[in-house]
Amino acid sequence: MLEEQKRFQVPSDELDSVIGRSRMPARADIDHLPYVQAIVKEVVRWRPVVPVGMPHHAREDHWYEGRLIPRGTIMLANIWAMHKDQDVYGPDASEFNPDRWINKTNNTTLSGINSDGHAGFGFGKRRCPGGRTAIDSLDILAACILWALKMEQKRDPATGELVPLPSPEEYPIGGITIHPIPFQFTATPQFEDVREIIETSKESLSLE
Ligand code: HEM
Repeated sequence: MLEEQKRFQVPSDELDSVIGRSRMPARADIDHLPYVQAIVKEVVRWRPVVPVGMPHHAREDHWYEGRLIPRGTIMLANIWAMHKDQDVYGPDASEFNPDRWINKTNNTTLSGINSDGHAGFGFGKRRCPGGRTAIDSLDILAACILWALKMEQKRDPATGELVPLPSPEEYPIGGITIHPIPFQFTATPQFEDVREIIETSKESLSLE
């Protein structure tokens, strides 16, 4: 747990130096926030939202590594398994570890499939057309949340004990997607002026 909290502090340091404490993060900042980008990328790798992609069918016979895939075969790509492949991501493939994208050791290993370094958005011509939009939205959302809020595991007010988190191994599958189990946490402003800066930003947005 302490280790996880320490990881959360890293983007705060990054945000402190790039954004500071007088304005909110903006889209133009994202290129200068590698750790925030790494967190979002790792979320898509660690728990791929669509773990076996979308079904596709072969329009003609294919030979793949000596095996025939007959025309009409319905195929599912096991993105989940690919993302847990230790040959690609190393012995900690099952762990949530944004650092893997920072030190670049595994960043381009999957480039034969695509340039993301993971297969979370699928493959080839039918690759998710919303992938770029999704990442752009998640990057700025993550930057704003981490800039504004210190998030910690919730403590039971009566006992002071940490409220247990649901195990990520139990994330339910809903149709073709997986999603987190709701959990409790504590969110406090990272610094005193957070609320005022957000209010001012909202006002300036509505004036434009
Ligand atoms: C983190 C967010 C998202 C993830 C992980 C994701 C993942 C995927 C995956 C794995 C596929 C199947 C690709 C394949 O068959 O190879 C897919 C398809 C698709 N996605 Fe996404 N997606 C996300 C967000 C979005 C958004 C924001 C949009 C729309 C704005 C979108 C629109 C679509 C569409 C239309 C398809 C079907 C493409 C086709 O079959 O030609 N997705 N997505």
